[in-house]
This record gives sequence, C-alpha cells and structure tokens, in this order.
Amino acid sequence: MRLAAVILAAGKGTRMKSKLPKVLHQVGGKPMLGHVLDAVKKAGVEKTVVVAGFGADKVESYVGDSAEVVYQEQQLGTAHALLQAAGVLQTFPGNVLVLCGDTPLITPETLSQLVKCHQDKNASATVLTAKMQDPTGYGRVIRDDQGRVKRIVEQKDGTPEELAVKEINTGFYCFAVPGLFEALLQISSENAQGEYYLTDIIELYNRQGKITAAAVCDDPVEVMGVNNRRQLAAAEKELRSRVLNRLMDEGVTIIDPATTYVDSSATVEPDTVIYPGSIIEGNAKISSGCCIGPSTRIVNSIIGAGCKIQYSVVMDSEIGPDCSIGPYAYIRPGCRLGKAVKIGDFVEIKKSVVGDKSKIPHLSYIGDTIIGNDVNVGAGTITCNYDGKQKHITEIEDGAFIGSNTNLVAPVKVGAGALIGAGSTITKNVPAGALGVARGRQVIKENWRKR
Ligand code: UD1
Ligand code: CA
Repeated sequence: MRLAAVILAAGKGTRMKSKLPKVLHQVGGKPMLGHVLDAVKKAGVEKTVVVAGFGADKVESYVGDSAEVVYQEQQLGTAHALLQAAGVLQTFPGNVLVLCGDTPLITPETLSQLVKCHQDKNASATVLTAKMQDPTGYGRVIRDDQGRVKRIVEQKDGTPEELAVKEINTGFYCFAVPGLFEALLQISSENAQGEYYLTDIIELYNRQGKITAAAVCDDPVEVMGVNNRRQLAAAEKELRSRVLNRLMDEGVTIIDPATTYVDSSATVEPDTVIYPGSIIEGNAKISSGCCIGPSTRIVNSIIGAGCKIQYSVVMDSEIGPDCSIGPYAYIRPGCRLGKAVKIGDFVEIKKSVVGDKSKIPHLSYIGDTIIGNDVNVGAGTITCNYDGKQKHITEIEDGAFIGSNTNLVAPVKVGAGALIGAGSTITKNVPAGALGVARGRQVIKENWRKR
C-alpha cells in the first residue's frame, strides 16, 4: 500500500518564547522537524507535506526538496491544518501518516507499527495512543465496553470521569486518504477552544460505520512533544543517549556518557575511545583506534585511524591517520593534514596543508600555508599571511627546518631541505638546501654594566 505523510507544523510554539518557529529549534544537532522528516522517510513514505504557518518562509527554506510545504494562514485547529494538504494529497491512492513537527524522538519502527495496525484492521482511521502516568494536557482515548476506540476527548472538554483515563492521544495517526478530506470538512468547531479538532474524526467515522482503530505505543518517550525549552533539553538528553548507546554497541568506548555529546549525523568507528567533555558535531567521521578528548570538539571533520586529539578544536578539516593533536590546538576550517603529523600545544592552523610526518609542536600560527613532508616548524613560528588587505600563501617544501620564533612574511617560499635561523623574519624566498637568516647580529660590549 502506498504511503504519504503530513507533518503539522504551523503553530508558533508560544512557550518557546522564540522568534524561531518551534519546529526549527535544534536537538541532537538538527531541527526537530528534520528528525521527523528522517523518521517518515525511513518508514517508507513516498510523499511528505509539511503544513507551515508561523515563520513559514524559514520552514520552507529548511525543508527544501525533502517535502512539499503548504500554508495554513490562521491556526484554526489540527483538522483545519490537515485540510491544507488536500490540494496535494486528495487523489493520493493509499494511506497518510499524520504527525506533528515537534516530536523529534519518534522512530520509523513505531510509525511502521502504526501503519501495520491500520492495514491489519482494515481501518479508515487509526490513532497511536500511549499510557501516561500523568495524562494532563493530552486528549484522552475513550473506548467502549469491547475496548474499541469510541472517541477522543480534549483536556478542556472532558468530564472528570473522562479525564481520569490514562490512555492518551499521541497526535500520530494513519488515515486512508479516500474520504479523508471530505470528512475533515464535516468537523465543527463547537468545543471549549473553538478549534477544528482532528481528533473528532474518530467519532465521526464511528457514526458513519467506518472502521477506526487504536495502536498502543509502548514507549511514551518516543511520542513526547516539545513545547518549551525544558522539554527541548529533555529531548536532547534522550537523543544523545540513543546515539551514545548505539556507538557503544558498535564498539566505541565512551568513558563518560554524561559529558559526551555526539550528533546523530556523526560516525565513529570501533575501538575509538572518547574521553569526557568531548563534542562531536555535524558530519564528523572518526576512524577506528582514535583517542578523542578529553575536552575536544570536532566539527564536520574527517579523522584518520589512530589519531590522538586532546583538549583541542578541529573544524571542517581532514586529518590523516596517526596524527597527534593538542593539547590546546585549534585546527580551523580548510586544513588537510597527512599521515603522522604532529600539531602540538597552542598551535593554530587555518586553511593549510601539512605533509606526512611534519611537526608543528609548539606555539605557532600557520595560515594559508602549504607544508611538505618531514618539515619541522620551530616553536613560536608565525606565518604573516595578512598584509591588512589580502591573504597570501606561504610554501614550505619537504624536509625544511624552520628555526624557532621565525616570521614568514607571505607570499614567501622556503625550498626543500632549507634551514631558517631562529628568530628570522623571512621576507624573500629561500632556495632549496640554503640557509636563510634574517636577524640583527649579536653585539657584545664588555663591562657595559659597570660603566
Ligand atoms: C493535540 C491533540 C491531542 C493530543 C496532542 C498530542 C487535537 C485537537 N488535539 O493537542 O488530542 O493529545 O495533540 O500532542 O488535535 N497545528 C497546526 N495548525 C493548527 C493547530 C495545530 O499546524 O491550527 C499543529 C501545531 O503546530 C502542532 C500540532 O498541530 O505541531 C498540535 O497542535 P497543538 O495545538 O499543540 O495540539 P494539542 O493542543 O497539544
Ligand atoms: Ca491546542
């Protein structure tokens, strides 16, 4: 059976107290809506419609090609929101999943179970329910003597008896598309909130003799909606432990999961050890046998096997195997390190290539530089890459030795095997194999202090 999805995301999310639409707030390094879109895709949905309202332009630009966006100008209720998808889905020959954009913890497995229950029961409408210790705020699922779902009652409309029911409406549904949009038009707004409730469709279908069903979700955490920043933090924590548990199951050692943060989009290979206080973000790819941390941040970078990176930041860069980085190194965007490179303490490098086995062990700034293999860059070496207007390139060829406290004023080139005397300010190219020294000669004045 073919499957479509509608994600309701027009609400402002008032309790977030934000200019950003609620569904674009990030958890686990991705907007909540992104998690929902992923789950829907993995559940086998072929066409997705997002109903946007508040901040619709931002929602639309985030969604891009992954779904079709329709507008709900006024938020008149969930039935009215779903109705906005009629133009796109009316003739869709199959079922449609309906979900909310603020439920980032939903898994594709649960969505598939909902669809399966819907198909097994041959239902026109199936609601995903959950049993909650404290059901306050949710719609309650009212069943008849035979346990069939009769209707859903909202918190604000329920009698004390109805509100005592602990089975709640999660806000996830599966509907047969034929007849759905016609039915939505028959829903009225005569209720405590004056809204068009999508939940009313259950009672309507029952009256019309259509089959309705309820599938119970056994993990209420999955259907948790995020309405405020406390819940956002709770969702973050849940997503984080899911990622860390997966990584540990795959063979990654995480010394302290409570202080380790890995985005779901990142990958880490087996036998890597992550020490406390480390953050791995975006599309980071960490190969096997690395030691990451303590206190290290890696963003969108590829790290080769066997690297040791401690107390350092690596952004948008590519690090070859067996490199040693830190403590306190800052690898800024656009760097490419070869094999077994050493970047030591208090070294900043930016937009630079460093060849195999080269070393920049202490206190350096290297920017817009191409360094060959087996180069040694002495402590305190600075590339002067910026003349106040433009950035210039420094080249240091294979096997060169740069003495400590050297300034390399770019554009400048140090040839293969050349030697630069410590404390030099190099402004002209140094040929291969040559010695370049550029500093004042030492002067001795005997007995100077006495005089
Ligand atoms: C809704 C359900 C309730 C359920 C709960 C689960 C109804 C009437 N009630 O209540 O039974 O327990 O979800 O979380 O459906 N939205 C729009 N346009 C609108 C109204 C809402 O796009 O006009 C979107 C919101 O952005 C949100 C979702 O629909 O993503 C749910 O709306 P919300 O007002 O939060 O519903 P609840 O009152 O929580
Ligand atoms: Ca509401």
